[in-house]
Amino acid sequence: MKKLLTALLVLLAVGSLCLCSRRSQGGGASGSQGSASESQSVASGSSLIGIAMPETHVLRWVKDGNSLKAEAEQRGYRAEVQWGNADQTQQNQQIQSFLTQGAKALVVGCINDGVGSVISEAARDKVAVIAYDRIIPNSADYDYFITFNNFKVGQLQAQSIETALDLNSASASSPKYITLFAGSPTDGNAFFFYDGAMSVLNPYVDSGVLKVVGPYPRTSSDSGNFQRIATENWQAPIAKTRMENLLNNDARDVTLDAVLAPNDTLGRAIIEACKADAKYRTKLPTVTGQDAEFDSALSIKNGDQYSTVFKDTAKLAEAAILLADQVLKGQSVSIPGAVLASGDLAKIGDTGRKVVKTYLLDPILVTNSNLNVPVDAGFYEADQASQLR
Ligand code: BGC
Repeated sequence: MKKLLTALLVLLAVGSLCLCSRRSQGGGASGSQGSASESQSVASGSSLIGIAMPETHVLRWVKDGNSLKAEAEQRGYRAEVQWGNADQTQQNQQIQSFLTQGAKALVVGCINDGVGSVISEAARDKVAVIAYDRIIPNSADYDYFITFNNFKVGQLQAQSIETALDLNSASASSPKYITLFAGSPTDGNAFFFYDGAMSVLNPYVDSGVLKVVGPYPRTSSDSGNFQRIATENWQAPIAKTRMENLLNNDARDVTLDAVLAPNDTLGRAIIEACKADAKYRTKLPTVTGQDAEFDSALSIKNGDQYSTVFKDTAKLAEAAILLADQVLKGQSVSIPGAVLASGDLAKIGDTGRKVVKTYLLDPILVTNSNLNVPVDAGFYEADQASQLR
């Protein structure tokens, strides 16, 4: 305990020294332009990169944080990673501590728009901010966002339903039944996932071959209904309870053919709820997912979950650190394997206050027929990979 206190005091002292020296170098000017990263020029190789990840209850973020740290260190930076436990106040304290320690860049997967105040502070201190996987909403204080094509993630989820239910040959006289779930309404990605999915499914609803059981927001802009299908902070217990309620109410008199689940964590919770219902004991609905989590990959192999979307987060981490490195060195940004969002996709980079430069990696649909794709990409530990072959 004593040792911990001493360590904390030393950390605080070092932190405030860095803060003073940074401020006295004239770093505290012109917050409103928010172009800290653009005006950043040279950073020494041993500068600190602060990595702020949102949560650990969705497993990918554990890996994201560790990959980002390893990538940063490989490029000669010092790196620190913290996870925010789906609590923006906690994450803000973590980011604040990176700033106090003199971080030159922040890589942030935020929780909600409450992150704005610390991002403004980073901008005032000319710290380069990279929004990682999730947009930092309602902020004009940063310039870069790196993520996947999140609209396509949703399209892929829905295309897997289209195939599994053979919607192309279905008829309105014998319609298929689906119920819809969305991710957290505090996460900008959730809107793109949903809209991507509905861009594929709405025409089948219109022609009567697909019937929606429960709330049906045609797009995420129907905010009343979107809130009803959304899952605060991507919490599995919320999705499980909502599925149980649906099974006992709106879906009581039909047999569901599919459930649009926005990620694997929620997909598995939905499957659990279905398994407890006698009606689905022999045949589960087609349930989608996202993240290619090992448990879901195994579930796909065993025939429970139908699909997932593989996003190679090791590549995302590598690209994010390359981006931070280029920005810190004042080089022009060029990220192999990513495209700069333009046209309709530029919306993905709209914070609500400005459109930031957004780099998109490509997601891949995974079903039982191509489980080898994440396996061959080295996405799993060796013992996990061997269970999936
Ligand atoms: C990410 C998903 C993840 C979800 C919940 C989203 O922002 O893009 O990969 O499943 O958050 O953590």
